[in-house]
Amino acid sequence: MLQRPSLLNAEVHHVLREAVLEDRSLGAFKVNRRVFTDEAVLEAERRIIFDHCWLYFGHGSEIAQPGSFITRRVGGRPLILNRDRTGKLHAFFNTCSHRGALVCRERNGKRRSFQCPYHGWVYDDRGVLIAVPGKESMAPGLVESGEMNLVEVPKLGEYRGFVFINFDPNAMSLEDYLADAKAVLDLVSEQGETGMEVVGGTQEYAVNANWKLLQENSADGYHAATTHSTYLDYIASRDGMSDNTRRMADPAATRVVKALPDGDDMGQDNDFNRVRDLGNGHAVIASIGAAPWGRPYARWVPGWGEDAKAEISEIARKIVKRLGARRAELVTNGDRNTLIFPNLVINDIMAITIRTFYPVRPNRMEVNAWALGPIGESPTSRDRRLRNFLEFLGPAGFASPDDVEMLEMCQSGYENQIGMEWNDISRGMLKERPTNTDEEQMRVFWRRWKNLMSRANNM
Ligand code: FES
Ligand SMILES: [Fe+2]
Repeated sequence: MLQRPSLLNAEVHHVLREAVLEDRSLGAFKVNRRVFTDEAVLEAERRIIFDHCWLYFGHGSEIAQPGSFITRRVGGRPLILNRDRTGKLHAFFNTCSHRGALVCRERNGKRRSFQCPYHGWVYDDRGVLIAVPGKESMAPGLVESGEMNLVEVPKLGEYRGFVFINFDPNAMSLEDYLADAKAVLDLVSEQGETGMEVVGGTQEYAVNANWKLLQENSADGYHAATTHSTYLDYIASRDGMSDNTRRMADPAATRVVKALPDGDDMGQDNDFNRVRDLGNGHAVIASIGAAPWGRPYARWVPGWGEDAKAEISEIARKIVKRLGARRAELVTNGDRNTLIFPNLVINDIMAITIRTFYPVRPNRMEVNAWALGPIGESPTSRDRRLRNFLEFLGPAGFASPDDVEMLEMCQSGYENQIGMEWNDISRGMLKERPTNTDEEQMRVFWRRWKNLMSRANNM
């Protein structure tokens, strides 16, 4: 059902095979720019990556009540995610089994049934067709056969409230797929004593650039000093020039990072300022106490005013009591930009931003983002969190417009097809331990991309 016809000609096979070149001994890593511009490459990505990888749909808190639902395009397809009256989650293809109309036009809501707006067929919250106007004209038993029910997406999985779907019925389990990224989702989820929730609505914007450029950009410590100099100037003018701001403004500086006493909780070592390959194409860049911005549960900044100081230390005290000093330090004071292959970013920095994006053309993507925060947070803390959520990564914040500009400039640069065919992504490759301002996290993505796309040769 989900197989698409092969559109790959011999030339595209060649491009895919040769798109990522790596020589570890020389510290060389090159990506061919055609992977950002070629329609046939995008078609191959839809078929090979988006039809087989786990894709983020939404957060369980968005459909907390029985009967609640959200509709979204995920992996290029319109889908419904709902929680039925018994509390069970379902992901349906949002298309009527009669003649194909979307059965649900609303973005979200609560309902026990979905009525197709075209001819009025009604499905219950488990997708069962329960009413057909003029049913007597249908073949006997057709409505009751189950054949005309809504169709569920082959796989649905949830980890710490993050809900994913997979169009491949034979895909590995979500837990196996997430691999070591689970440890990051654990850290992100532990800020809330009674869980986490998506706050408010969805940020939506489009970028005239290839989707993979945003995955690269979302954990790129190297560009902060130049692309985000305005933000760093703003932070310095608001909060004073701190050591952290000074270091971030200098890409050559080595960050001074607080070491935790006996290893971090990600099973490796106590240097938190490094890139981690989390398996299956996922990666994180992380530091602790090294970023210039405030974190609502750990790091007060002068711009928040004196009143906030007492509240933040009280929040921190409670978290230390709940999690222990070491774990609390990681959860509240650790900044981490996480890439989950292929197109999910979780930036737990000054606020928690969940971001996903999907290509509509080789040179255009649609981006969705949400804020995640602890359930039961005080209004004053929530206010600081949401200001932070908007201030940097919001579509009109200090970061996103500058990032969008840079990605669109890259995409324009790729129109030069002659003479400059390759991107260089080798920074830090010869280091034993690449850091946040190196490019190992991007290489993790590209190795996985290459691994999957090279299978196209057999498809
Ligand atoms: S297309 Fe849905 S009822 Fe006809
Ligand atoms: Fe950026």
